[in-house]
Amino acid sequence: MQEFHRKTLVSAFYSERAESYDDAIRRHPVISSIRERIVNELHLKNNASILDLGCGSGITGFEIRSRFDDVRIVGVDIADEMVKVAKRSAASEGYDTMEFLTGDMESIPFRDLTFDLILCINAIRYLKSLERILAEIYRVLNDGGEFILIDSDRESEHMNDEGSKMRVLKKHPLEEAFINSDGWNMMYNKDEIREGLVTAKFEKIFIESEKMYFIARASKRCGIDGPDAI
Ligand SMILES: C[S@@+](CC[C@H](N)C(=O)[O-])C[C@H]1O[C@@H](n2cnc3c(N)ncnc32)[C@H](O)[C@@H]1O
Repeated sequence: MQEFHRKTLVSAFYSERAESYDDAIRRHPVISSIRERIVNELHLKNNASILDLGCGSGITGFEIRSRFDDVRIVGVDIADEMVKVAKRSAASEGYDTMEFLTGDMESIPFRDLTFDLILCINAIRYLKSLERILAEIYRVLNDGGEFILIDSDRESEHMNDEGSKMRVLKKHPLEEAFINSDGWNMMYNKDEIREGLVTAKFEKIFIESEKMYFIARASKRCGIDGPDAI
């Protein structure tokens, strides 16, 4: 599948489901409990700036905002209608330090060294070039900043059990469209993620598994004291 076609398909798929997505994802037991744990474990300084890539309806940002008052949260998603839903929720909560915009995370519309924390939950599977997206994330992350990446692990037991695979496909026509092309192979496994993070120069890489998901955390080194220092 051509990259342009893939992105158009993804964007149309999620735009079509934007109005019902929030309710559906909040009911997903596994990802809800992972999200809650991740947010509960965050230690954020005052005025921290946070970027949620492939933010969907903005659920992660809203959970962070409900725990931390003094943070700036930006959500970027390729699906216009998802961004509209997220903006509407932020307006109805009166959260004026939350911002949502339509964009492609392969070319993040922000300057270098902008965010203290970047999250990307269940979205990286739609991107073909792990190298490119991780380099982009590294670029906009502040020195000492943290990156949290969560997605289905292609090699988890769940993903390789035929019954589960069919259940996933039944629920997700997009995944079906992908599997009929090169989609299933697009999900990453933990080794590929670790290798990608190392190549992008992340440090303090820690990857764990929970059911069918991997949860990867990594940091950008502080200052310019590494091999690239001039
Ligand atoms: C399964 S949803 C996850 C949404 C949200 N992160 C969550 O945890 O509920 C995947 C999201 O990734 C977005 N997405 C896919 N490819 C993207 C890209 N290249 N740039 C930005 N967003 C993208 C989709 O539009 C969709 O909203």
